Amino acid sequence: MRLFKWTKANACFVPEIDDEHRSIYRVADELHQSLVAGAPEFAILEIFHRLIATAEDHLVHEEGLMRSTRYSGRAWHQQQHDTLRKRLRQFVPIVEDGDREAAVALIEFLSKWLKDHTALADRMLGAHLRNQDRLHAA
Ligand SMILES: [Fe+2]
Ligand SMILES: [Fe+2]
Repeated sequence: MRLFKWTKANACFVPEIDDEHRSIYRVADELHQSLVAGAPEFAILEIFHRLIATAEDHLVHEEGLMRSTRYSGRAWHQQQHDTLRKRLRQFVPIVEDGDREAAVALIEFLSKWLKDHTALADRMLGAHLRNQDRLHAA
């Protein structure tokens, strides 16, 4: 089963954000497939660290956009990002210890978090950013 398949249903309609979401889905799917295939530890960890870095870069990017455009929903959105960070931080040492069940649990958690977060928080941010673009174009 593909846990991470980006479709139009996940779109926020801001190309740079959608591209970054697609990248996160791609790396998360890579990690999932490697776990299913029983890939060696070093390979799992390389993808795992790449996933964490890709996600963090994206969160920081969105947070910068929220700040620079004085987004009113910023505190609420930021809180969701921080919750994700906290959970990821809890997973890091366990996955680094070679616990594959923890890696699978992380994948399941991330899959659900991404779906929920992009469907509401990121979509609202997307609408705000599109409005900003329209205002500046006018
Ligand atoms: Fe977000
Ligand atoms: Fe996002």
